[in-house]
Amino acid sequence: MDIAGRLAVVTGGGSGMGRELVVQLAARGCAVATCDVHGAELAETVALACKGAPGMRVTGHLCNVADEAQVDRFRDEVLEDHDREHVNLLFNNAGVSGGYSFVAEDRSDWDRTFAICWGGVYNCSRAFIPLLVASDAGYIVNTSSVNGFWAALGPDVPHSAYSTAKFAVKGFSESLITDLRVNAPHVKVAVVMPGHIGTGIMGNSRRILANADAETSADGPGELDDLVRRASEGFQAHAPVSAREAATHILDAVQDDAWRILVGDDARMLDEAVRSDPLAVYGPDGLALRSIWSG
Ligand SMILES: NC(=O)c1ccc[n+]([C@@H]2O[C@H](COP(=O)([O-])OP(=O)(O)OC[C@H]3O[C@@H](n4cnc5c(N)ncnc54)[C@H](O)[C@@H]3O)[C@@H](O)[C@H]2O)c1
Repeated sequence: MDIAGRLAVVTGGGSGMGRELVVQLAARGCAVATCDVHGAELAETVALACKGAPGMRVTGHLCNVADEAQVDRFRDEVLEDHDREHVNLLFNNAGVSGGYSFVAEDRSDWDRTFAICWGGVYNCSRAFIPLLVASDAGYIVNTSSVNGFWAALGPDVPHSAYSTAKFAVKGFSESLITDLRVNAPHVKVAVVMPGHIGTGIMGNSRRILANADAETSADGPGELDDLVRRASEGFQAHAPVSAREAATHILDAVQDDAWRILVGDDARMLDEAVRSDPLAVYGPDGLALRSIWSG
């Protein structure tokens, strides 16, 4: 799809790949409406995008994608603020990492992680797919993960809620290929499966999951506990691919009409390993990927 001259919606635009998608979409001549639960970061993204693409319309909206009423309000704001009756691109990007063990942990992080990573994609797709269908050319781009085809972080590290949600995102996206071809052939779908990307996901996730009562916040980041802050900095510093590189890769693939977008050599290696020996990936000696995840 030619991105220039379109209107894109990006969820989770306050940080990481979402922020880079907003900035780069605007730079490619696309109007953007983005949402996040963190208002200060959202405003920063809008300012960055406007600075890089003067004159391009970029709007920020406080919205928790796990809440259907907020998503519907976000959709209405987008149409009003951009004075349109359709949108062309929907990037279901917002996500948090959490809910590691179904067995050993209390259920609150599991349920919230699933509600954001799957429920957010569901709510936004319900709200915006009719508007993609109403356009002359549409594209829905759903961010899954390598955890959408491999449900662990290593032989001893479960990743239960996140993987369950990301498998759902991948399955939903693949189911839309036929659905859209039959019912709305002018709308395309892509599933994005990044490996380790240098973003603030560890710290942001902790902030969101630890603050279960605060739906959205206009405040800047609060203090993270020292351990989480250091782990988050390490995750970002040791990533083989930056958020900027990941967003460029995703947008180039969308311009090429791709439907399956792996981001990073680690993602490609994992994909190959799972396909070549699916029975071996979860054993105690299963995928020796700790080196990749720990940098
Ligand atoms: N970073 C990685 O290594 C990696 C790997 C695979 C997949 N992903 C996926 O990529 C996507 C982007 O993550 P990122 O790494 O850029 O993380 P990030 O934390 O930098 O950005 C995610 C953004 O989503 C926002 N968000 C979280 N919950 C939300 C909600 N309920 N409503 C609205 N906004 C919300 C956060 O505030 C944040 O601004 C996520 O879906 C993530 O699961 C990331």
